[in-house]
Amino acid sequence: MEKSNLDSLKNLMVRRGVIIPSYQAYGELSGFYDYGPVGLNIKKRIERLWREHFINRLNNLEIEGAIIGPQAIFEASGHLGNFTDPISTCQKCGHSHRADKLLEEFFSKKGDRASMDRVSRMSVEEMEAAIKSNNVRCESCGLPLQKVDTFNLMLGTRIGPLNSVQGYLRPETAQGIFLNFKNVFRSYGLKLPVGIGQIGKAFRNEISPRNLLLRMREFSQMELEYFFDPGEGGLKINNKAVGEGEVSGKINFLTRDEQLDNADFEFREREMRDLLKEGNVPNSLFAYLLLREAEFLLALGFKSGDFRFRQMLTEELPHYSKGNVDLEVRIGDKFEEVAGNAYRTDFDLRNHQAATKTDMSVLSGEKKVLPHVVELSFGLDRLFYGLLYSSLYKDEARGWEVMMLSGSVSPYDFALFPLQKDEPLVSEAVAIFDSLTAKGYSVYYSASGSIGKRYARADEIGITKAITVDFETLSDRKVTVREITDAKQVRLGISELAG
Ligand code: GLY
Repeated sequence: MEKSNLDSLKNLMVRRGVIIPSYQAYGELSGFYDYGPVGLNIKKRIERLWREHFINRLNNLEIEGAIIGPQAIFEASGHLGNFTDPISTCQKCGHSHRADKLLEEFFSKKGDRASMDRVSRMSVEEMEAAIKSNNVRCESCGLPLQKVDTFNLMLGTRIGPLNSVQGYLRPETAQGIFLNFKNVFRSYGLKLPVGIGQIGKAFRNEISPRNLLLRMREFSQMELEYFFDPGEGGLKINNKAVGEGEVSGKINFLTRDEQLDNADFEFREREMRDLLKEGNVPNSLFAYLLLREAEFLLALGFKSGDFRFRQMLTEELPHYSKGNVDLEVRIGDKFEEVAGNAYRTDFDLRNHQAATKTDMSVLSGEKKVLPHVVELSFGLDRLFYGLLYSSLYKDEARGWEVMMLSGSVSPYDFALFPLQKDEPLVSEAVAIFDSLTAKGYSVYYSASGSIGKRYARADEIGITKAITVDFETLSDRKVTVREITDAKQVRLGISELAG
């Protein structure tokens, strides 16, 4: 089987309504996508697997916080002051461009990889100079661009009947976790280290949303804030030591120095203990959690060559971070970030403590500490997109595309087809449908079209098992079960379908 390209995936996603541009009837609003039934099922399964890996297995807790918050929160968190992107607005037609992405695209089209890589390290002034000296033009009207400014990404809203309170839609779910930390810590009698997670929507007023689910204005995050005592040497999670020397495992890694030395270098497989010793990973808890992320990606169905960890360059670091390592997956011919992993220190708790004059510290043994935080922040839509990209293949033998998802993220547990849409096969199939759904399985039922077409429709959305009810079923109480991986068919008793 041959890997499908990104255009085939985009075509499939639109054709099968996996995702749908929001508000299409009104001409669309860029940066907003809805999930159709298949897309939503896959997305929920990714969430379920994230919960299993990062909440349940690590004995952590999950919350659900408010989406809108008052201005003071985002002043303290630094988002109102620092959460910006470079913008270049055309002086003739008013079209706005995200200056760094525009320059990257410009150099990429020229095949100038070294300049393309340098963009992420440029200041606003350097971007302006590069735009002018290269005569980079407006995407809309073609006039050369002139200026680069900074643009704040926070989406504002007014709160209350008189619109008297300035509010903002959260740019990350993390702030709700920091603000609830002490309450949850106390009411659950927790001990450090401990993680609190949250899945939910976040909002950014992107200058030029694009690339489907890669740059959206409304998107979903799965975030985990891991609180720990920075003065405590023998960190343990689930009774397992995660201190220096105890964290071991291999991951694909691209260091800061390798990026500076060679723009084309992708990654090498590295031992985590060495990365930690060299200071390429900020601390041992961080190292431990990166290994858990690699496990999670493999459980989702990514192959190890499909993803890498990239140490962020100093110039790229978010305002709250003392070290970031992005998790990136291949989408098309690029590696794209699907999770930002940050050593946030006590930045957020300290700032909220100062702004609210409330003590945010907790007990660690006998002493009070303001915990430090390692954050794992997944962009759920990007992860979903990357997973579908890495799973889609063209099967010449079948003559159609196959989404090779694993059972844990398949949109339905079973596809179920009566061979013909007449009685008595339909009643038999409906009885099987009822018994499977009563046991908690999800079933995609279809009675129309040839059986070959129905197999093709199940394959391209990644349903791992298809059941066909035929005339023999009526006498032998057996059905045909077809596996997506090799399209092989076996006869199984109805009672053997599900445990
Ligand atoms: N919480 C990190 C981010 O959303 O960028």
